[in-house]
Amino acid sequence: MFVLLNNKFIDRQDSLIDIEDRGNQFGDGVYEVFRIYDGEYFLLDDHLKRLEFSLKETQIDYNLNQSKLKDQLLTLAQKNDVVDGGIYLQISRGSAARNHPFPEQTTPTVLAYPIPVTQPKEQQQNGIQATLYQDIRWLRCDIKSLNLLGNVMAKQHALDYGVNEAIFYRDKDHVTEGSSCNVFIVRDGVIQTHPANNYILNGITRLYIQYLAKQLDIPIKEEVFSVDELKQADEVFISSTTSEVISVIDIDGQTIGDGQPGPVAQQLLDAFFDHKD
Ligand code: PDD
Repeated sequence: MFVLLNNKFIDRQDSLIDIEDRGNQFGDGVYEVFRIYDGEYFLLDDHLKRLEFSLKETQIDYNLNQSKLKDQLLTLAQKNDVVDGGIYLQISRGSAARNHPFPEQTTPTVLAYPIPVTQPKEQQQNGIQATLYQDIRWLRCDIKSLNLLGNVMAKQHALDYGVNEAIFYRDKDHVTEGSSCNVFIVRDGVIQTHPANNYILNGITRLYIQYLAKQLDIPIKEEVFSVDELKQADEVFISSTTSEVISVIDIDGQTIGDGQPGPVAQQLLDAFFDHKD
């Protein structure tokens, strides 16, 4: 496997990161997951825009040259023969003797490599089950930061519980998002999702779904919903770069709608690929 590390394409075995990299010590960095379909990056500009936002908010002093990074990402995909898959990219603040304040002089570490991603067709056809989990994360979930312990613990809780996804709630009136996805409900034909603020990651797929819903004339609103509204929705679905659109058919044993993937999620999924180019 070829890895892009600080502007160089190198073999995975040779791609060494310093033990004092702040990504390691503090989770002091940001990341993106890109999807490649038919050898082409999907919604690449939107991901790069969000990367820029994450860098700015964390004050990581990296002068992102989007066109250079784009070229490098394309080369990386080509070198690794990625036709249908994903690319993981992370930028940490860099390496310095361990100390909490931002180091005076350090160069960010930029790392990217391919990850296996395939369309979750089975889950899209049958839907998935989910469990609720208290949102124990910090209050800047809009930054795509490397600090994912809350997300990791939530996901593991879901798996241990025998379901596929954990849906976060801050309190009973406030459902936020999934452990690695955004969450949508459908009520009386209207799609609803959490507003893009500090409580959620503004998913690129979430934005794409908003665009698709407008194209399809399906009303969509950004408004907080409660745990009860979630469980009593006609449909619940999740979105992410790797999941695309997947219906949630059961939450903590409560059947959602008729227990089948719903028509709105299906319509969005159909449109997902029609509009992709
Ligand atoms: N996760 N919310 C959270 C907490 C996420 O981790 C993700 C994505 C999303 C959806 O964002 P997008 O549509 O841009 O993928 C929402 C990625 C895929 C991951 O960490 O693997």
